[in-house]
Amino acid sequence: MYYKTNIPTKMKECRVKPTNGKLGVMCVGLGAVTTTTIIGVLMSRKGLSKPTGSFACDGIMRLGKGADKIYKEVKHILPIASLDDIVFGAWDLYEDDAYDAAIKASVLRQGDIEPVKEELKAIRPYKALFDKNYATNIDGPNVKTGDTRWELTEQLRQDIRSFKEENNCERVVVIWIASTEKYIPRDENVHGSLAAFEAAMKANDTERVAPSMCYAYAAMREGCPFVMGAPNLCIDIPAMWELADEEKVPITGKDFKSGQTMMKTVLAPAFFTRQLGVTGWFSTNILGNRDGVVLDAPENFETKRRSKMSAVENILDSDIYPDLYSDIYHKVRINYYPPRGDEKESWDNIDIFGWMGYPMTIKVNFLCRDSILAAPLVLDLILFSDVALRAGEYGIQEFMSFYCKAPMHKDGEKPVHDLFKQFAMLKNKIRELAGYEPDQELD
Ligand SMILES: NC(=O)c1ccc[n+]([C@@H]2O[C@H](COP(=O)([O-])OP(=O)(O)OC[C@H]3O[C@@H](n4cnc5c(N)ncnc54)[C@H](O)[C@@H]3O)[C@@H](O)[C@H]2O)c1
Repeated sequence: MYYKTNIPTKMKECRVKPTNGKLGVMCVGLGAVTTTTIIGVLMSRKGLSKPTGSFACDGIMRLGKGADKIYKEVKHILPIASLDDIVFGAWDLYEDDAYDAAIKASVLRQGDIEPVKEELKAIRPYKALFDKNYATNIDGPNVKTGDTRWELTEQLRQDIRSFKEENNCERVVVIWIASTEKYIPRDENVHGSLAAFEAAMKANDTERVAPSMCYAYAAMREGCPFVMGAPNLCIDIPAMWELADEEKVPITGKDFKSGQTMMKTVLAPAFFTRQLGVTGWFSTNILGNRDGVVLDAPENFETKRRSKMSAVENILDSDIYPDLYSDIYHKVRINYYPPRGDEKESWDNIDIFGWMGYPMTIKVNFLCRDSILAAPLVLDLILFSDVALRAGEYGIQEFMSFYCKAPMHKDGEKPVHDLFKQFAMLKNKIRELAGYEPDQELD
C-alpha cells in the first residue's frame, strides 16, 4: 500500500556522494550501549535480528504532496551505508573485548550474543584517554600515558589512522558512548576559540580540557564526524565549532534522548498545545548499570541533571504563557540501585491545572531497558553523520536533534525539543539532501 510508481519530481540531484567502501565506527566506551548496538548490527547482518527503531535502516517517509505523494524507505531515498559495510572499533579503560563486555553488561540474553561471538572477540579496545577526576567511580588498567592532553590526543589520532588503515575504511565516524563526565562550566578563556583551546591542551590544562574534548579534537582533525552521546560539555563550545568549520566535518550532540526525556518531549507539547498549566514536574529514576555507578557521583549527576532539565523549560515557554509556566517546580533525580541493572525504571509525577485553575495529576511509570532504547539512536546518529559528511555538511547538525536530549545550537539560537517538530526537521533534511522539496505538509 505504501508504494506507487509515480516518483515525485526532484528539484535537484541528491547531494550525498555514493558510498564507496567500508564505514569505520569508532566508539568511545565499550560498555552496555555500545555492545548492544554492535550486537544488534551484527545479528541483523546475519538475518538473525532486525534493526528495530532505526529510522535510517527501516523508516518509511512521505515524498511529494497531495495526490502525488508516495511513501518510500529512507534507505532508498538516501545512499545510506549498508550495515554489511560497517566495521566497529572502540576505546575503553577496561581490557574486555566486546564479547566479555557484553556478557558483563548483561543487557542481552546469551543466546542473542553467541551467534556473533567470533566477531565480538575480535573487537578489542584501544587504550583509553582517561582521567579519573572526570569519573571518580570507575577505574581501569587500559589507559594511555603521556605528559599533556596534546600528546595524548596525538595518540588518539594515531589510533584512528591505524584503525582506518587496518580495516581498509573509506570513512570513519567517532561517537562518544562512554561515561558521563563531571560537570565543567564553559570558560571563554579556554573554550572560546580554537587557538586558546589548543594552547590549553599543550599546557596540559586538565581542569578545563576534558578527555571527551580530546577525542572530539582527534576525530575532527582526522576528518571524522563526531557525535556526543553523553551530556558532556565537549563539543558544545565555540572552539569545537571553529574546528568543525575548519575541517569541514559534521558534529552532533548531545545526550541520547532515549526514555524519560523522550516521554517529556511528547507530553510537554501536549500540555502547551492545550494550554494546561504546570506547577510541578518531579522525575526520578532507578538504574543499576555502570552508567548508574558513574552518575552516583554528584559532580557527574550534575552534568546529566542539566541536560535532563532543558527540555521542559524550553517547551513550556513562560515568555509566551507566564501564567501557565513561570512557576514550575521541576526536579530530576537518578538513584543507583544495583538489583535493577540496565532495566531502568523511571517515574514522573506531573502536577497540572486547567479550567478555573483546578489541579490534576499525571503519573508516568516507564519500565524500560536503557540500552535497548539507546541502540537504534546510536545507529541512526552514525549513519546520518556519515550521510552528512558525504553531502559536504559541516558544523552542528541540527537535523539530528531528534536523537538528542539537549540539542546543540549556536549562541543566541533556541534548540527545538518537541519530538514531533524534531521529526519533521529530520524528514525535511532527508528530502533536501536527496534533492526533493522540503515541505510543511501534514503526514
Ligand atoms: N542508555 C541510555 O538510554 C542513555 C541515554 C542517554 C545517554 N546515555 C549515555 O551513554 C553513555 C554510555 O552508557 P552505558 O550505559 O553504555 O554506560 P557504560 O558504563 O556501560 O559504558 C560506558 C563505558 O565507557 C567507558 N569509559 C569511560 N570513560 C572513558 C574514556 N575516557 N575513554 C574510553 N572509555 C571510557 C567505561 O569504562 C564504560 O565501559 C553514558 O554516558 C550514558 O549516560 C545513555
